[in-house]
Amino acid sequence: MALPQPAPRATVLVTGASSGIGEQIARRLADLGHGVTLVARRADRLQALATELHRATGVTVTVRPCDLGDDTARTALIEEQRAADVHVSGVVNNAGFGSFGRFDGLPLEREQAMVRLNVLALHELTGAFLWPMVEAGAGAILNVASVVAYQPLPGFATYSASKSFVQTFSESLHAELAGTGVSVTTLSPGPVATEFGAVAGVGRAEDMAPGGMSVPAQDVAAAAVRGMLHGKRTVTPGVATKGMVLGGRLIPRTLLLPAVKRAAGGRLRNP
Ligand SMILES: NC(=O)c1ccc[n+]([C@@H]2O[C@H](COP(=O)([O-])OP(=O)(O)OC[C@H]3O[C@@H](n4cnc5c(N)ncnc54)[C@H](OP(=O)(O)O)[C@@H]3O)[C@@H](O)[C@H]2O)c1
Repeated sequence: MALPQPAPRATVLVTGASSGIGEQIARRLADLGHGVTLVARRADRLQALATELHRATGVTVTVRPCDLGDDTARTALIEEQRAADVHVSGVVNNAGFGSFGRFDGLPLEREQAMVRLNVLALHELTGAFLWPMVEAGAGAILNVASVVAYQPLPGFATYSASKSFVQTFSESLHAELAGTGVSVTTLSPGPVATEFGAVAGVGRAEDMAPGGMSVPAQDVAAAAVRGMLHGKRTVTPGVATKGMVLGGRLIPRTLLLPAVKRAAGGRLRNP
């Protein structure tokens, strides 16, 4: 068993629900009748989505604005959810961002903020909501990694390392939890057209890979929710994405690293 059937006093917490993959996952879950709790910083976007989803599906949609990179705000969110009269039957740890450039030229504070969000927040939310699920003998966590989790990526050093953490951590938990009724699924998308590229400073994420390799956010979300429902260990949407994962695993680093650096062009040259 993985994500339990929808229930009136149960909710699936979705982080990063104000855009991109997280928004699509929230839409998919609501379509299937699950109550959802939408978390991100942009409250106006969450509110608009909540109104639309409730009207369209009738499910209970809760809006909970939160900067998950802020320790105090994150702790408050966790305590509030625990005290609430609603059971968190699923958690989608999707909020995350990247930044492109040579590490020594990037603002260290932003790189650290990335580790706080992509790694620490995901780790803490997983830990906070896992044990009540194990006690109940049911529940599902979806942690969003990336194809770059499988390889080092010059130009995205902190980001690729953060996603390797997510991948390794989540796959270990999946094995640990076998037989408990609770699953942890890792989602590893390739390039997806969202706000990711603009936030990372690379333009459009989908332009970073050869044509046709990008998978629409809606399809990524559908595959992710299917994976959660079936308690799958990993979800890698798209044939080309699976190829990228294989390449990242098998191509020797001595070939891979210079090739990736060359692909980044002049943007990683010495100053
Ligand atoms: N797009 C891709 O090509 C791609 C590929 C592989 C993996 N991914 C991963 O997929 C996940 C979703 O990214 P996306 O592509 O959908 O990008 P996106 O459109 O930029 O969405 C990122 C989401 O994270 C939220 N977020 C960012 N900082 C936050 C913070 N401090 N506190 C709370 N929420 C925060 C954003 O909301 P607010 O700004 O409103 O807070 C937004 O809802 C990320 O983990 C990303 O690393 C993306």
